[in-house]
This record gives sequence, structure tokens and C-alpha cells, in this order.
Amino acid sequence: MSLSVELLESSFAQIREQELDFTTHFYTNLFTDYPEIKPLFANTHMEEQAKKLFKSLVLVVASLRNPDALTKALEGLGTRHIQYGVLPEHYPVVGSTLLKTLSSCLGSAWTPNTEQAWSEAYAVVTELMLKGAKYPTEILVPRYKN
Ligand code: HEM
Repeated sequence: MSLSVELLESSFAQIREQELDFTTHFYTNLFTDYPEIKPLFANTHMEEQAKKLFKSLVLVVASLRNPDALTKALEGLGTRHIQYGVLPEHYPVVGSTLLKTLSSCLGSAWTPNTEQAWSEAYAVVTELMLKGAKYPTEILVPRYKN
């Protein structure tokens, strides 16, 4: 699958101008729509976490033209997520929260093409993180099996 790099870059340039707004909305949406996720962040310093999440999104978008670096970083991130209690079924939840938040922050720049570009990019991110996580295959939902 070839990602729509230019569309991802140009839309994310707009998000970078509103980092705090974006991350605040992201976690508000996540915990409002999926309250069952909240315990995973029970001992987390949320302001720091928001900065880390944003940094990793910056890295993902900056590395779209350098897939090898991206692969390594995301596999490592996926491995670490096991220790945070994250399960494969949580990835679609975060994905839909990401799209919802991008949509509200991008306003009229959120077009069907932008939506498709981010949805495909998130699928790739999920695939690489789950690969790095090496969950036992029986807990992987079929579409995430390697
Ligand atoms: C696009 C996918 C994701 C990205 C880019 C991402 C990014 C990050 C980053 C950068 C950290 C900081 C720690 C580290 O670097 O290891 C982190 C921690 C964490 N993430 Fe994610 N994450 C993703 C998916 C998820 C999912 C699906 C969940 C499940 C709800 C989740 C829950 C957590 C938790 C609980 C922590 C630990 C916070 C702590 O330190 O207490 N993440 N994530």
C-alpha cells in the first residue's frame, strides 16, 4: 500500500499549529467515548503523555519518506505497549479517536481523501506496532494476524 504522503504532511502541518488543542481533544474523546480505557492511564502523568504521543505522531509523519526508520521505531513502540497493558483490541479504539480528533481539528480540510489517507496510515502504524508486540496469535483479531 502506498500512503498519501503529501496529504498526510500537509494536513499534519495544520495540526502542529494546535498541539495542545489536539492532544486535549484526543484524550477527552478517548476517555469519553471509551471509559474502559481510562484505567490503563491510572498512573500516567497526562500532560507528559500528551507531549510524548504528539512527538511520536511528529516522528511518524516526518518518517513517511524513510520507511525503514519508521518500521524500527514503531516495532519498538509496540513492544513497550505490552508493559502498559495495551491489547490488540485497543488499537481500533485509539484509531477511531485519532480520526475523530483530526476531523474536528482540521475542520474544512478534513475531506474524504484526508480521512482515507489517515485511516490507511493508522492501519500501517497498527500493523507495525503489533508486529513489534508479538502478541500470541490466539489473542490477535484475524485482520491483524501476520
Ligand atoms: C498510533 C498508535 C500509538 C502511538 C503512536 C502511541 C504512542 C505512545 C507513546 C509515545 C507513549 C510514551 C511511552 C513510550 O514511548 O513507550 C505511549 C504510552 C502509552 N500508550 Fe500509547 N500509542 C499508541 C497506541 C496506544 C494504544 C492503542 C493504547 C491503548 C489504549 C495506548 C496506551 C498507552 C499507555 C497506557 C501508555 C503508558 C503511559 C504511561 O507511561 O503510564 N497507546 N504511547
